[in-house]
Amino acid sequence: FAVCRCPKCVELKLPREGAAFCSQDCFKESWGSHKSVHLKAKLSSPAPENAGEQNSGLSNDPWLYCLRKGQSRTSKLPNFDWTGSLRPYPISKKRLVPAHIEQPDWAIDGTPKIEPSSDFQHVVEIKTPDQIEKMRETCRIGREVLDAAARVVRPGITTDEIDAVVHDATIAAGGYPSPLNYHFFPKSCCTSVNEVICHGIPDARKLEDGDIVNIDVTVCYKGVHGDLNETFFVGNVDEASKRLVQCTYECLEKAIAIVKPGVRFREIGEIINRHASMSGLSVVRSYCGHGIGELFHCAPNIPHYARNKAVGVMKAGQTFTIEPMINAGVWRDRMWPDGWTAVTADGKRSAQFEHTLLVTDTGVEVLTARLPSSPNVFPWLKS
Ligand code: MF3
Ligand code: CO
Ligand code: CO
Repeated sequence: FAVCRCPKCVELKLPREGAAFCSQDCFKESWGSHKSVHLKAKLSSPAPENAGEQNSGLSNDPWLYCLRKGQSRTSKLPNFDWTGSLRPYPISKKRLVPAHIEQPDWAIDGTPKIEPSSDFQHVVEIKTPDQIEKMRETCRIGREVLDAAARVVRPGITTDEIDAVVHDATIAAGGYPSPLNYHFFPKSCCTSVNEVICHGIPDARKLEDGDIVNIDVTVCYKGVHGDLNETFFVGNVDEASKRLVQCTYECLEKAIAIVKPGVRFREIGEIINRHASMSGLSVVRSYCGHGIGELFHCAPNIPHYARNKAVGVMKAGQTFTIEPMINAGVWRDRMWPDGWTAVTADGKRSAQFEHTLLVTDTGVEVLTARLPSSPNVFPWLKS
């Protein structure tokens, strides 16, 4: 596994693992966010015994992190201007995937190889009937995996335990949990609690009564991905959080309702923004929906906010996600030092729902739709 190292980090004798990038490109791209590491290191110039601790924490880490996606979590809390009350907790060891499971090309070394250079980053692929049938199967597995995770949500369970449920259910179905080692993401799903917008890393924190938690599941099966998420209530949740989560659910429903051939991708953001702002909520701008299929993330890019510049119109045979993230306060996001966890800038709560969709000749098929067996966890869906 070839890595390049940040020369400044080497000069400052920062931990080897912390200074590692997967490539020159990765280093260049992440410079904007990475350079603050040097300043922080200088400011907090640690006491010698402290430095030893930090180093050993990193060396014991089960694997290297790509610094494009931040520093690994040590037993010590990093210095950070936390926006809300949530904090990172320790992350468990990498879960194993049995040899009989077909793995995407990032499973071993953390770097997707086909995805970034594919033509389908620019051209929106029209899926063949064979690809579509595989997407149906994979998305159904994804749905069953998310439902299994939903059933264990309760005060006291850790998000790491939820990750174990997702990991085991995915493998039991013959699939690979797509997030695992994708750009070095360390777990098999994302769990985003309270002010976390998306990409929360499952960890040792126990869910508390009154929390909200989004579980984002992506399964790779028969060479194609299916991606969906829902935000769940943990025990008794305050009314404002209930309204936030229900409104986010409705934003996705309303956006799906306009999907059909000929509709502009940029319209999706208009619909979502209209519904969210009506309730005094704001729409996240940094994270978007995406094309999906044999690639996890590809064209089209689907912003959820108004007056966006998304190009193109929908055509039958395209598959993509819509996954609005809606905030109780400001739309702006911040990144935790782990390089993954996106939080609201004001520390107020954020909710998200996601489906993988197929554009049909007459409209849309929700490939990750809820099943009659799906747990009844959303009060507004009860008859
Ligand atoms: N499932 C997320 C999405 O909706 C992507 C997670 S990538 C990960 O696009 F690496 F964070 F897992
Ligand atoms: Co997605
Ligand atoms: Co997702």
